[in-house]
Amino acid sequence: MLSEIKFQNQKVKDLIMNHLLSEKTHIFKGKIKVPGDKSISHRALIMGTMAIGQSRISGLLEGEDVLNTAHAMQALGADITRDDNGDWLVYGVGVGGLCEPDKALDMGNSGTGARLVMGLVSTYPFHTTFIGDHSLSGRPMKRVTDPLAKFGAEFHGAEGMRLPLTVKGIVDPLPIEYVVPMASAQVKSAILLAALNTPGKTTVIEKTKTRDHTERMFQHFRVDITLTPHEDGTAITVTGQPDLTARDMFVPTDPSSAAFPTVAALITKGSDVTIENVGINPSRTGIFTSLKEMGADIEFINERLECGEMVADIRVKYSDLQGITIPMERAPSMIDEYPILCIAAAFAKGDTVMRGLEELRVKESDRISVMVAGLKASGILVVEHQDGMTVTGQTYISGGARIKTHLDHRIAMSFLTLGLATDKATEIDDGSVIETSFPGFQKLMNGLGAKIGNKAL
Ligand code: S3P
Repeated sequence: MLSEIKFQNQKVKDLIMNHLLSEKTHIFKGKIKVPGDKSISHRALIMGTMAIGQSRISGLLEGEDVLNTAHAMQALGADITRDDNGDWLVYGVGVGGLCEPDKALDMGNSGTGARLVMGLVSTYPFHTTFIGDHSLSGRPMKRVTDPLAKFGAEFHGAEGMRLPLTVKGIVDPLPIEYVVPMASAQVKSAILLAALNTPGKTTVIEKTKTRDHTERMFQHFRVDITLTPHEDGTAITVTGQPDLTARDMFVPTDPSSAAFPTVAALITKGSDVTIENVGINPSRTGIFTSLKEMGADIEFINERLECGEMVADIRVKYSDLQGITIPMERAPSMIDEYPILCIAAAFAKGDTVMRGLEELRVKESDRISVMVAGLKASGILVVEHQDGMTVTGQTYISGGARIKTHLDHRIAMSFLTLGLATDKATEIDDGSVIETSFPGFQKLMNGLGAKIGNKAL
C-alpha cells in the first residue's frame, strides 16, 4: 500500500498523494450540503471590514481562496475570528479606515480575491503589493487596473500587468463612469469597491448582467446604490464614503459546487441526490436551466429568500440527456460551469454546442484547451472552437485518462466526476487544488457512493 511506503521526502509524498483516482460507481444516493458560496464569502469578509463593529458571517466557505481574502482583510486592519459554532466574526474598520499592509498580500489561486481587493485598496493613500500562485500570476489584471487608474491610482505589475503587482492608491480619488467592456462581475465589483472610499457618485455600466452579489451586499449594508436602465445596459451608481454599520450575513451554499454532485447524479444510473440550501440567485443558475433543457430531472424544492439571496434544496435523479446549443447570452450565469457541463454533454445524445466563451481562456487555466485535451484523452468526441467547444455524446466512454489539472479546481472536480461513469478510472495529477473552493469534496462525494481516492485505495 502506498500509505505504508516510507517517504524520504515530504514533497515527493505530497506529489504522489495529491494524485486522485475516480472509479466507476454503481450507487449515488443521499442528502448532502455543499460548502458556502465562494463569491459571496469573499464579499462578506470585505464588507464586514468596511463596516464599523462586529459582523457575524454564518456559512462562510472555508476554502483556501476565501481564507486568503480573510488574511488580506486582517493585514488591512480588520480583526477576524471564528467561533466554536463555525461562524466568522469580523470587527470592521469602516470605510476610510484601512491601514497599509506590512507585507505583500498573497491571494493564492484566487482571481476574485485579487481583483476585488485591488479595487478596494486603490482609493486609499498607501501601497499594496499582490502576489499569487503560478496560475494567478499568469492571469490578466489590466481589466481592473484600467478602470481603477481612472480614480487616480497607479499600478506597477509584471509584464502584461500581471502579478506581482503593486497598487499605489490615491489620496483624493475622483468618481468615475465606466462601461465594463467584458462580462465580468470581478471588474464590476472592483470598481464598486473602489467607489466606497471615493467622494461623490461612481457609475459602472454593465452591458451583460453578471452575478450581482456585490450589489446585493451593498444593499444589505445600506450603501446608497441604484440600478437604472442605460442605453448600453444597466447603470449601477454608488454614492461614496458612507458610514456603514456591522450586519450579520448568511452565506448560502455554492451553486457552482453543487453542479458537481448534480452532474454525477445525472450520469449515474439509479441515482437520487438532494443538495440542501443551495444559492439559486438567477445570475448563477444557468447550469441548472441548461441541464433541464437537456432533459435532466432536477427539482428545486422549498425555494426561499435568506439574507437577500434565494436558496432552495435541489433534488437530482439519473436522466437520459439530449445535446443542446447553449444560448451565448446565458454564459455569464454559468461561466464557471462549462467544464462540468462538458461532462454531462459527453453522456447526452447528440451535440452540445458551447460558444461565446472567450472568457474561459483566462480563468484559473485556459479552460477550453484544458477541457478539450482531457475529453479527447478520455475517448470523448469534442471539437475546439476559438470561443468554445462542441461535445458529441456517446453511449460508451472508455475513460482511463491521466488529466493535468493546471492548478484549476474545476478541471480537477470535473474529471473526477467523469471517472464515476466511465469504463476505466480517471486519474488527476493534483487534487490538492480542490481545497480552493470545495474543501471536503472527496469525502462528500464518497458519502453518496462515489469511489474517489488516492492511487493506493
Ligand atoms: C466571480 C466572477 C467570475 C467567476 C469567478 C467568480 C466573482 O469571474 O468566473 O469564479 O465572484 O465575481 P469574471 O468576473 O472574470 O467573469
